[in-house]
Formats: sequence, C-alpha cells, structure tokens
Amino acid sequence: MQTNLRGRDFISDLDFSKEEVETVLDVAWDLKRKRALGIPHPYLRDKTLAMLFFYSSTRTRSSFEAGMAQLGGHAAFIESRTTQIHHGDTAKEIGEILGRYFDGIAIRHVDWGIGNKYITTVAQHSRVPVLNMQCDIYHPFQILADLMTIMEKKGRNLRGKRLVVSWAYAASYLKPVSVPQSLILQMPRFGMDIVLAHPPEFPLMPDIVEEAKSLARKYRVGFDIVDDMDAAFKDADIIYAKSWGPLVVTTDPEEGKRLQDKYKDWIVDARRMALAKEDAIYMHPLPADRDIEVTSEVLDGPQSVVYDEAENRLHVQKAVMALTMA
Ligand code: CP
Repeated sequence: MQTNLRGRDFISDLDFSKEEVETVLDVAWDLKRKRALGIPHPYLRDKTLAMLFFYSSTRTRSSFEAGMAQLGGHAAFIESRTTQIHHGDTAKEIGEILGRYFDGIAIRHVDWGIGNKYITTVAQHSRVPVLNMQCDIYHPFQILADLMTIMEKKGRNLRGKRLVVSWAYAASYLKPVSVPQSLILQMPRFGMDIVLAHPPEFPLMPDIVEEAKSLARKYRVGFDIVDDMDAAFKDADIIYAKSWGPLVVTTDPEEGKRLQDKYKDWIVDARRMALAKEDAIYMHPLPADRDIEVTSEVLDGPQSVVYDEAENRLHVQKAVMALTMA
C-alpha cells in the first residue's frame, strides 16, 4: 500500500500510480462501510474545499459537497460566471488566492483546448492540492468510481475481463471526450482487455490513444479499436457506452451534429446487450440521452449498474480528499 498522497494534485488519471489507486480504493471501501454503519469519519474537520465550476454538473457537485460535509469539512460552490473570473481573474491568481483561503481546490473546466491547461496552471500556483472534477482531456474521479464499481461486480482480479468503451449516439450536445480517454488510460493497469469502438469521425486524441496502447502492452492486455458496435459487444464483460463529440475532427457545433446524426443506430438496446456475455454489466457516467444513447429497457434493466456507479463517486472522492487534504 502506497500512502504518500498528502498534498498531491489529481489532474490526470496517471498522476497516481497503480498502487496509489489501490490505496484510494481501500480507503473508499472503508468510508463506504463507515457510512453504511453510521460511523462518523471526520478526517477533514475544519478543512475547506473550493469547488470551481466552468460547466454544469449534478453528480460531481453533489457528491463533492456531500463528501466534504461527511468528512467534517465544508465545500464552497463557486461558479466562474458569477465571479470576477468572468472579468479577468487569471488562472495564476486563482491558484495563488484560493490556495490561501482553502485546503483544496477542485475545478471542472471542459472547454476544448483550454480546460486542462487552466487546471494545470492553477495547480502550478496553488499551495494546496488541485483536484480535476473533469477537463477537456480527463475525468479521473469518474473512472475511479467506475473501477470501484467494476471490482464490486466482477471481483478484484480483472485480468481477462473484456471492457468495451463504445461511442453512442446523442442528440443533445457535443459531449466531452474525457470519460473514454480516462477509461482507456486507467483500466489497462488493472488487467482488463480494452475494446474501443467508435465511428471513423469520432477518434480520441491521438496522444492519449498511443499512451493507452503503450500501457496495454506494459500490462499485457488487449487493446483493439473497431468501428462496429455489434462486433465490439460480442463476449464483453463490461459495456461502457456513451456519446462524445467529434472534437478531434471539428469543434463546430453544426458540423458536429451533422456527423453525429449519421450514426443514430449506435444505441445500446436489448439486442446489442444480448451479444455480450450473459452476466455483462452496463455502465454509463450519466447524464444519458434516454432512449437515444441507450434504451430505458437497458438503462433501468437488471444489467445496469449506473446507480451504484454514481454512488461510488462519493466514496472515491472522499478517499482522495482525505488522503490528499488531511
Ligand atoms: N458523471 C458526471 O460527471 O456527472 P455530472 O456531469 O452530473 O457531474
């Protein structure tokens, strides 16, 4: 067990080693057990977290805020558009100043080509840990919760399990690529074979895919990229299918929508789930475009673990905050 996390930032999935992620999961299960038993666990009494949002959220905001309260501390919700950031406070100033008021700074900023750079700059100028609540490149807390959920459903030894990370159609907006990118970076370290499925116009960032391939080689797991949803689903243990925008190809909303609309048949339904193993689980970080990305039959069905997945955001985030901010 590696416990050297105090004072550390968590911005990319790979900022914590595999052993450090295992420590986070150990602590997360302990905190989950304590909450279930009603055992107080105020490891961050009198500590404060700044939660700075440039983008909307339901689960991330709620789970960080609830988590800080359960740890005995306080989380302050700060929206960029209602602060002087809107009028010119720079990332350096935010790091310097919020770092003096708070014991941790958590940021969500998903603007393409901007979000990760912003969070990294804040971290360079902050004297307290900076936590990435999702940027344009990574969504590391989502993937810690996903890993915890997969281990709860499939066991701690995941070697040989087939994880399908698939694009799915959505009509609402061009969603970030951070979830699939973080999945293909984090999961090879835990022994899963990765199948990445998407239409040709929806590639992930080439550097991220190369890094993921290199990790797959290092950890001796499979890594395949296909453009056929049915082929990807065959014999899968875990189906993780969600929409993302064609942002590597275009950031123009109209052109993006035109490309998305070519693939309306990329939906997770009962027929496709039947191609996977009988005991396969269905995962989605939510929000989902119901009956567009995934049918209600699957989303609400017995193979879906989306509510456990959402719950585990709370436990992994509390674990990381307790380990980095104590
Ligand atoms: N999964 C997730 O990050 O949800 P929110 O966008 O609601 O925070």
